[in-house]
Amino acid sequence: MEGWQIRETFLRFFEERGHRRVPSASLIPPPESGLLLTNAGMNQFIPYFLGHAPAPYDRATSVQKCFRTNDIENVGRTDRHLTLFEMLGNFSFGDYFKRESCGWGLELVTEGFGIDPGRLWVSVYETDDETIDIWLDLGIPRERIVRRGKDDNYWWTHAAGPAGPCSEIFVDRGSRYGDEGGPAVDEDRYLEIWNHVFMQDEVDERAERRGELPAKNIDTGSSLERVATVLQDKATIFETDIFQPLFAVAESLAGVRQGEDERTDISLRVMAEHGRATTFLIADGVQPSNEGRGYVLRRMLRRLVSHARRLGIERPVIEELAEATIATFGGAYPELVENRAYVLQVATSEEERFGGTLRQGMALFEDAIGRASGTLPGEVVFKLHDTFGFPKELTRELVEDAG
Ligand code: GLY
Repeated sequence: MEGWQIRETFLRFFEERGHRRVPSASLIPPPESGLLLTNAGMNQFIPYFLGHAPAPYDRATSVQKCFRTNDIENVGRTDRHLTLFEMLGNFSFGDYFKRESCGWGLELVTEGFGIDPGRLWVSVYETDDETIDIWLDLGIPRERIVRRGKDDNYWWTHAAGPAGPCSEIFVDRGSRYGDEGGPAVDEDRYLEIWNHVFMQDEVDERAERRGELPAKNIDTGSSLERVATVLQDKATIFETDIFQPLFAVAESLAGVRQGEDERTDISLRVMAEHGRATTFLIADGVQPSNEGRGYVLRRMLRRLVSHARRLGIERPVIEELAEATIATFGGAYPELVENRAYVLQVATSEEERFGGTLRQGMALFEDAIGRASGTLPGEVVFKLHDTFGFPKELTRELVEDAG
């Protein structure tokens, strides 16, 4: 199944089971969410879970663009880190609860997506015997059900708000991906593809439980990119069809191909992933700046441009990457098409601005790193930032790469 078929299969499955298809919300969340960027499908439904507004429907399904900023510098260096991803989700606002959610999840994974049930493992919150019984009734053998604690199996947005214990579905990708023994042993081999959150608690900004929600709700999240990795039997997220139009642009600009060299692969991945993610951010109204969301965007655009230079590309790259993103994802996210001219203008002007100082900054960096013994002096980091526009995270990455 290609990416678009996974999206459509998921949404249809839940529409047929009484769910309202709701469009993705913006990556810029409402201020009261306490979040920098939308980080889960449930964000737009927070007022319904908290009981602050009546839900206009009892059941919803969506494919939500999501952004997680904690791993930007890891993108490209691993097989699976992304900043932007698409989250498939189904939601119940005080309607169905655990049994239906787990049952439908299993039905879609096995019958809709065609994954052999013999490859599935599940996790549950350590004290949640009720969900263990549900999975046993649904045919998951006891030895493939694992209990895990709050760090793994209690979900919250990482801001004060709704939360709850959760239960995940993992797919065993086989011995070429790691050691036997289940998700507690190896989460590369046993890839998590679906999380069922039993939204029943309200927590504070440290995830301490403050009370019960007015109703018991369901919030599920399943990464489209991970499902595609499994269904297309690819070793990495970057090899799925979802990223191929972006890699085609990056490879053609660089004149190199994926798989030839580890260092160039990192830079190609950064171009593909950051090219896609920054296009989505700008289309939702984020502008490059030195704080908050704008700084996330600026860091990523500048990291992208610096990796393009490492590949020896001297000409502008962002426009072609943005065009490929709009062409590939504009059907599912029409705002990309509507805001095309604006996206291109914002992205290319940031590229021009940084492209002009990058060469001089790199010369200063090379000179300083050649003379440094173990530590790059703070005043160099400052000058790179202040005069040449190098975000400090980019300098740190260059220092690490220089050993
Ligand atoms: N909201 C569920 C998840 O992100 O896994």
